[in-house]
Order: sequence, then C-alpha cells, then structure tokens
Amino acid sequence: MRGIILSGGSATRLRPCTKVTSKQLLPIYNRPMIYYPLNTLLKAGIKEILIIVAPERAGDYLNLLGSGKEFGAKFTYEIQDKPKGLAEAFIIGENFIDQENVTMILGDNIFEDDLSKEIKSFKGGGKIFAKEVPDPERFGIVEFDKNRKAISIEEKPVKPKSNYCVTGLYIYDNRVIKVAKDLKPSDRLEYEITDINKWYLEHGELEVAMVKGEWIDAGTFDSLLRAQNFAKEKMQGKMII
Ligand code: DAU
Repeated sequence: MRGIILSGGSATRLRPCTKVTSKQLLPIYNRPMIYYPLNTLLKAGIKEILIIVAPERAGDYLNLLGSGKEFGAKFTYEIQDKPKGLAEAFIIGENFIDQENVTMILGDNIFEDDLSKEIKSFKGGGKIFAKEVPDPERFGIVEFDKNRKAISIEEKPVKPKSNYCVTGLYIYDNRVIKVAKDLKPSDRLEYEITDINKWYLEHGELEVAMVKGEWIDAGTFDSLLRAQNFAKEKMQGKMII
C-alpha cells in the first residue's frame, strides 16, 4: 500500500493567514496541520508516502518533513502546478504508485479514528469513509438504501439526498490511475474525486464505511478553531509523531 497526502491548493478562504504559508502547515494546537493526516497513514504502517504540494510552498514542506527518516518512512514530493482537483493526485502520482494499491488523505483532514485495520485489510475496489454532517451542501454526499448500501454520490449537491458526507480518506486499487486519466473536468473545471467514487460505485466495487469518532475538515476559520480544541482534548494520546 502506498500513501498520498494531498496538500496543495491556495486556501484563499483562509486569507490572510495563508498569504505566505500553506493551510496545511498552520498550527493545530501543538503540531502543524499535516502531522494529523501523516499520523493516520504512519499508524496504518504506510511507509512510502507521496506529498503533493503547491509550487510556491514546496521548500517549506521539505524543511518541515525532510526525507521521512525521522518518521521511519520515506517521503517523495511532487508539485501540483494548479489546483485542478483531488483526482489529479493519481495522475501526478502514477510513477510513485507503480503497481500498488493507494490510500490518499487530504492534508487538512483530521480523523480521531484509528483507520489502520480498514487500510490494512483492503483487498481491492474502492473504499471511502462517511460521516453525518449538518451542512451537506459543502461536501461529497453519499445516499444509502434501507440496507445501508450506497446508491448514489454527488459533489456539493444543492439538494442533498442525505447528510452523509464523504470524508477525505480514500483507498483504491491500482485501477484508480486509469480511472483518473479518463475523467473529464467538472463544471467547476476540476477533476473530481467524486467521479472516481462514482466509477467504483457503478462497477459495484465501492465500499462505504462509517467514521465513528470525530472528523474535521479544517478548511474554514470556524472548523480551524474547532480543530484546535479537538486536537488538544482528543488527539494528544493518539499521535505517534
Ligand atoms: O473534506 C472532504 C471533502 O473534500 C469531500 O467531501 C469532497 O467530496 C471533496 O471534493 C473535497 O471537498 P472540499 O471542498 O473540501 O475540497 P477542497 O477544494 O477544499 O480541497 C480539499 C483539500 O485538497 C484542500 O486541503 C486543498 C487540497 N487540494 C484541493 C484541490 C482542488 C489540492 O491539494 N489540490 C487541488 O487541486
């Protein structure tokens, strides 16, 4: 299993805090934000990790994280020239992923759950993690039938069919590279991870697990504030870095 942390983008929503640095390097209580998703991958035993960053911030990531040796891992870096969508990570990461399966986590997502078992037991297809949220218009949304089987996925729907959001950790088999390459950009001109999930869903190969503990996408000022307290109160004992 290879790991990717997607940590690019320009985070205009968090200006001026992100004018001279990357959102995922901002402090969340006593650690840089990216330490939390990195912790999730390292705990699952993933040792080969690709960190995808925006060009103007590459040096900062290298200074902070280095080769990975300090973390018992090997880090590789790639530049995403423009934020063209989450799914582009699998195109940028093609050589790195090679013939393996891949777990991708977003650099601004903090999971309380230990997802090691879910990652280690992955056999094939696609696997994503859902969480009930009060503001479903902001996310990828998965709809279930009465047997809890996923039946549809939509990106930021105007009329959400459920309150179950797709969180920012995705596990795919090696076919994801080809699926990503075949995508067309969406109306907002991005290569959507939701379209990859739809591909696996349509092929009957998408598993949707539930996130049990707390989960935060620290992409707004309010969620950033919540993340600070959550990290202090709930995450300290869960960090191995
Ligand atoms: O957080 C979960 C949500 O993440 C999912 O429910 C959505 O389906 C998914 O599209 C995504 O939605 P967001 O609106 O949160 O995506 P955002 O554009 O904020 O990007 C998420 C992170 O990925 C952010 O930290 C920046 C980084 N990013 C984003 C894009 C579009 C990149 O590194 N490159 C990119 O091209």
